[in-house]
Amino acid sequence: MAVVTPQRSKGSFIAMQPLLQPGVGHIGGAPARETIPERLARLIASPKAYARQKSLLAGLRWLRTNLPVGRVESADFDPFWLVTRHADVSDVIRRHDLFHSGERAHTLVPRASDDMARAMTGGSPHPIRTLVHMDEPDHSKYRAITQSWFTQQRVTSLEDRIRTIARASIERMAQHGPTCDFVRDVAIHYPLKVLMEILGVPQSDEKRMLKLTQELFASEDAELGYGESAAGDPARHAQELFRLLGEFQAYFVPLMERRRHQPKDDLASVIANARIDGKPIDHFEAVSYYVIVAAAGHDTTSSSISGGLWALCENPGEFRKAKDDPGLIPRLVEESVRWTTPVHHVMRTATANLELSGQSVARGDWIMLNYLSANRDEAAFNEPDRFRLRRNTSRSALFGQGVHTCLGQHLARLEMRIFFEELLARLASVEIAGAPRRSASIFIGGPKTLPIRFKMH
Ligand code: HEM
Repeated sequence: MAVVTPQRSKGSFIAMQPLLQPGVGHIGGAPARETIPERLARLIASPKAYARQKSLLAGLRWLRTNLPVGRVESADFDPFWLVTRHADVSDVIRRHDLFHSGERAHTLVPRASDDMARAMTGGSPHPIRTLVHMDEPDHSKYRAITQSWFTQQRVTSLEDRIRTIARASIERMAQHGPTCDFVRDVAIHYPLKVLMEILGVPQSDEKRMLKLTQELFASEDAELGYGESAAGDPARHAQELFRLLGEFQAYFVPLMERRRHQPKDDLASVIANARIDGKPIDHFEAVSYYVIVAAAGHDTTSSSISGGLWALCENPGEFRKAKDDPGLIPRLVEESVRWTTPVHHVMRTATANLELSGQSVARGDWIMLNYLSANRDEAAFNEPDRFRLRRNTSRSALFGQGVHTCLGQHLARLEMRIFFEELLARLASVEIAGAPRRSASIFIGGPKTLPIRFKMH
């Protein structure tokens, strides 16, 4: 067990050093590198802890109070800093100049997976290269390709199409009644259908897309991912990931070629025909782009919808409020995303020696920004462990911040608002009818099964 001397935070690094001078020494000598207790280090890196959540959330609460920026030392991972407070997470994500996304893995991966990824890519830690893996100047060039497709105005123009998809999903749910597994029968299909429509992928390919996107993010989960044996073997896990990316490639390269020859009014055509510095986007980066749009927009949104409904079942008072006053639905959307926090963390790499909440972070250090913790921070949210519609969520790390802020946030909010409007208009009652379970995933996760009993109008 690592020895820990709990230390009260002295505030975020920006508060301590308004001008943030990288490399400036610490008065009175370099601050100690405080290591978080081994038991908590194990929880942070355990997919199963994300499925159970209770002890993980308790551990994160302890860290926010006692060691808001702490060092995680473990045999299986390169050392990294764990940032748990909302204010610190916010400060770090806004400073993309000081904290890069592309230098090291963008999510927590075991050393053996990282080594395998580098061996297979010829040195890069990233099996694919998407917006989340890029820094400036590339990042803004690639983001500009699709930015106009994801503006609030543009996505609002999709409202009618999305509502049609939402109504069809809810009608299917009604046919399942009086019980269903809300995740498997309803929620996982809806955002995927929306994305496939925007991308221009035929709806007949839904089954294939669903399998690919679920495997990508829940790869550590024995039921959803590559299986328990790969989860326990990081090198094999990396190999499986490359196999999966090969499957994405086999699907998207022909699509890209078709759109190059015959462009349509869809996102697949925009990406296929994009130019970077005057040259056509190359295959690898175009496929990476398709992967992030298909995958990032799917599990996150469906998990937030399921997480929201789960919470409404457990909080009948909030269910009644949302049903009686549809004006509260935008708040239900925000609270569902906060409550579920489908993106559990992202990683950054320090580009300079600096001080972060009293800790000396060295250039090249790997840093975990823990959204699960930030979204339950009692300094940012009143009674964070309660699901409440009438809360002020203006302070949130829900969709990230700064240059990497979620490209699809307007789409996600619109999809969720429409879905809840349609669902609550029809749902007379709903309750849990079995044991709900979350996926075992360190990076992106949420409910994987939510058995419910319901009545519809
Ligand atoms: C509730 C749903 C969603 C949540 C909670 C969410 C959350 C996030 C977060 C936290 C980031 C920042 C990652 C970082 O800082 O490294 C992000 C980035 C991103 N998201 Fe989302 N997301 C959601 C839905 C979507 C949707 C619907 C799409 C698109 C179709 C999408 C596409 C992206 C893309 C492309 C990025 C990378 C942006 C960049 O690096 O410039 N997301 N998302």
